[in-house]
Parts: sequence; C-alpha cells; structure tokens
Amino acid sequence: MATVGILGGTGPAGRGVAVRLGAAGHAVIIGSREPERARSVAATLTTASGLAVRGAGNEEAAAADVVVVATPWESTLATVRSLHEALAGKVVISMVNALAKDGREVVPLTLARGSVTAHVAAALPASRVVGAFHHLPAAQMEDLGSGLESDVLVVGDDAAARAVVSELVRAAPGLRPIDVGGTALAGAVEAFTAVCITVNIRHRAHAALRLTGLA
Ligand SMILES: NC(=O)c1ccc[n+]([C@@H]2O[C@H](COP(=O)([O-])OP(=O)(O)OC[C@H]3O[C@@H](n4cnc5c(N)ncnc54)[C@H](OP(=O)(O)O)[C@@H]3O)[C@@H](O)[C@H]2O)c1
Repeated sequence: MATVGILGGTGPAGRGVAVRLGAAGHAVIIGSREPERARSVAATLTTASGLAVRGAGNEEAAAADVVVVATPWESTLATVRSLHEALAGKVVISMVNALAKDGREVVPLTLARGSVTAHVAAALPASRVVGAFHHLPAAQMEDLGSGLESDVLVVGDDAAARAVVSELVRAAPGLRPIDVGGTALAGAVEAFTAVCITVNIRHRAHAALRLTGLA
C-alpha cells in the first residue's frame, strides 16, 4: 500500500480524497500550511470514518509516495514550486480546477498552457504529473455512506503514472478510473467541471460523472 499525501488536504476536496483513498487501505497524510489545522481535520475524519488519516504540514505530506494537489488554483503553482525537491520523481496528482463564478453559472478560466495539469507539469519538470478527481462532489466523497458511484478521468503524458493513479482510484470505494490519455485533453477534462457544478447548482443536485458503454 502507498502513502498518499494531500497538499491543501484540509479543504473539502482534499478531505474527500483522503477518505476514499484511506478506505482503500492507503496511509493518508493530510497536508496544510498549518500542521495543527491538518491534525484537527484528520482527527475529525478519523472519528467520523474510522480510517487512519494523519495530519501534518504540506512539507511532510509532500514526502509521501504519491502526492495529491488540492489547493485553490490561485495558490497551486506557488505551493508545488516550493515543494519541487520533495516532489521530484514522484507521481503528483492535480485535482485542481481553474474556475470562476458568474452569477448562477461556473465557467472555466482560459489558461496559457491550456490546463492546470499542464501548468503543474511545467512547474514540476522532475515529477510525473497526472490530472484526476476533478469532477467529484467533495461532500459525497467524504461520506462513505453517500452511495457515490463516479468515474474518475485520469489524464497526463506519463502512461505509467496514469496506470499508478488508475490503480489507486480502482481500489477506492465507489470510484472507477478511466484512462483518457495525454495532457492535451486535460483542459477539456478540467473545463467540464464547470458544467458539472453548474448543473448541480441549477438542479440542486450532487450529480457525479458516469460514462456508459465502457467494458
Ligand atoms: N470542492 C470540490 O467539490 C472539488 C472537487 C474536485 C476538485 N476540486 C478542486 O480541488 C481544489 C481544492 O478545492 P477545495 O474546495 O477543497 O478548496 P479550498 O477549501 O478553498 O482550499 C483547499 C485548501 O487549500 C489550502 N489553501 C487555501 N489557500 C491557500 C493558499 N493561498 N496557499 C496555499 N494553500 C492554500 C487551504 O489549506 P490550509 O489553509 O490548511 O493550508 C485549504 O483548506 C480546487 O482547485 C478545486 O477546484 C474541488
């Protein structure tokens, strides 16, 4: 089993991934700029879910075997650049979406490199960057009793790293990995999150992604 560290793991997105990967049997370290905050969040999750989740600073989370980036887009590149040495050679999963709220709609931002995944890959040239977990409703991820059944699109240029992430996802309850292929499609994957969130706002729902027709 791998250790999984989550940068910015104290937020809803990181907590949801922590619970699902913890339930798969992985040792999860929730990272934060404030280690005490991470320890407090981890203690709450442990009480609620019975899983062994630990809290620490982002630096300690970055020392895990596989590292998930779960910070807001605005702080993502500064966060990963500051940890580039610890992240070298590792599979780094970006679940970050670059979005803006516009009334009752959520819209994707246009990024110079086309996707957050591509920006993280450029910021971490010695890491094996994969995009995944973009579309998942965080509260349903955190609640193992929510009945969540969702696909997880896995995208990035390193095929072996996509396979590592797909195996992590496959072991997590309620999640099915779908290997999309290279980073060229990461922008489309991330932008579709805006559609998912807008649909959920419009329909007051917690819909998740499910593709049909795959074996
Ligand atoms: N929420 C969802 O349903 C969901 C689902 C899929 C993907 N995502 C993506 O996952 C990412 C996190 O989402 P979220 O809703 O969990 O966001 P969030 O609560 O706003 O932020 C997550 C964590 O990031 C850290 N953080 C905040 N500002 C920071 C800064 N300036 N520098 C460094 N760290 C900072 C904070 O942790 P500390 O203060 O403890 O350091 C915070 O708890 C986003 O990019 C989002 O698009 C979200």
